[in-house]
Amino acid sequence: MSLDTACELDGLEAALSRLPPACAALRQASLRYTIDETMLTALTPPHAPLPEALSGAVLKRRVEFAAGRWCAREALRRCGYTGTADLAVGRHRAPCWPGGYLGSISHCHGLAVAIAAPAGSLTGVGIDLELTMPADTARSIAPHIATARERELGAALGSEIWTTLVFSAKESLFKALYPTVGRYFEFLDAVAEDLDPDRGEISLRLATTLSDRHRQGDVHRVAFALADKGLVTRCLAREAPAAR
Ligand SMILES: CC(C)(COP(=O)(O)OP(=O)(O)OC[C@H]1O[C@@H](n2cnc3c(N)ncnc32)[C@H](O)[C@@H]1OP(=O)(O)O)[C@@H](O)C(=O)NCCC(=O)NCCS
Repeated sequence: MSLDTACELDGLEAALSRLPPACAALRQASLRYTIDETMLTALTPPHAPLPEALSGAVLKRRVEFAAGRWCAREALRRCGYTGTADLAVGRHRAPCWPGGYLGSISHCHGLAVAIAAPAGSLTGVGIDLELTMPADTARSIAPHIATARERELGAALGSEIWTTLVFSAKESLFKALYPTVGRYFEFLDAVAEDLDPDRGEISLRLATTLSDRHRQGDVHRVAFALADKGLVTRCLAREAPAAR
């Protein structure tokens, strides 16, 4: 790992610990990993071998998968879960969480994180780590993920950070809503309408109805924390969203 990468990961880890407080039941676990066979073996317990579908994948993909699952098991353990669910890969790549629990996984260039919580009043959770996009990537991706008005909203942060933040917030929203929507939906199906940098919160309003439970106008708040070269977002979906 180069010095630059190590610094980026230090920053992302610090950002994870600066996320605004969540609901009391939520637990988080993170792990730095390196791409090598020893790490892969250490992260893969006998009761949950890598899925067959990954047997032909490159080592990087196998290690990041194993690191994400390691964090998921640890987050579940911190919730009080004592079972040995294998956290299989479900439909549309979503992890299969044990009955009564929700969770989410992200991995990014050597850092993996997972959050988990008993289902309770939450209907889904989502977490996402991203390194800040280079300027040319941000420029080309922005029109596909955000309306002109959204692009204005966070312009003061600089277009690279703001585009990365909107992208990540919407990925966290996707992960949090997936268990109750059950299909892919588009980045423009949710629109950033409010940004509170001091609180570390961005509000996303659904621009379309995604399912009976997720209707146009629902507002979902996404927590975030910025690092020097990246950021983390986290979305907790509840039965009754903030507003319609
Ligand atoms: C699924 C997706 C959000 C993953 O994000 P990513 O930045 O590529 O990668 P991350 O490391 O942050 O997250 C990957 C993890 O997300 C989880 N994930 C994948 N598909 C998922 C789904 N359908 N539901 C919930 N979690 C999912 C998995 O745990 C995956 O890791 P794994 O494959 O090792 O198990 C992204 O690839 C995607 O398909 N986005 C399109 C849909 C979308 O975001 N729409 C925006 C709506 S506003």
